[in-house]
Amino acid sequence: MIKPDAVEAGHIGAILEKINASGFKIVAMKLTQLSQRDAETFYAVHKERPFFGELVEFMTRGPIVAAVLEKENAVEDFRTLIGATNPADAAEGTIRKMYAKSVGENAVHGSDSDENAEIESNFHFAGREQF
Ligand code: CMP
Repeated sequence: MIKPDAVEAGHIGAILEKINASGFKIVAMKLTQLSQRDAETFYAVHKERPFFGELVEFMTRGPIVAAVLEKENAVEDFRTLIGATNPADAAEGTIRKMYAKSVGENAVHGSDSDENAEIESNFHFAGREQF
């Protein structure tokens, strides 16, 4: 996902360009907005965390881009491309270093495993109402 902060700031094009230049194939993509229920469902694993309310509020405040990317070793390579969750810790040249504002407003989300990539792809493209 390209998150609301990066969409608001006009970074969709630059981020997609970096994704393409890094060898990812975009196999599905849409501009959409998450409802409160969508965001709570997507981030359910974090529901006990102190930042959960803030995360849901942020993720619902404006449009996001949801995309499914394909590449050998996609999960790991995408996480390298986006950089650390906190942009202060992200390596030079990573998407979060370039475009993220803070640990909360961190520009992009990448799946953390093949299994979660499938769940998250289905969430966005097989119909969120099933979740
Ligand atoms: P993401 O990779 O989308 O997965 C969970 C998100 O929770 C993470 O990116 C951050 O946007 C958010 N997050 C993680 N830690 C914090 C924190 N300490 N404060 C606010 N948001 C956080």
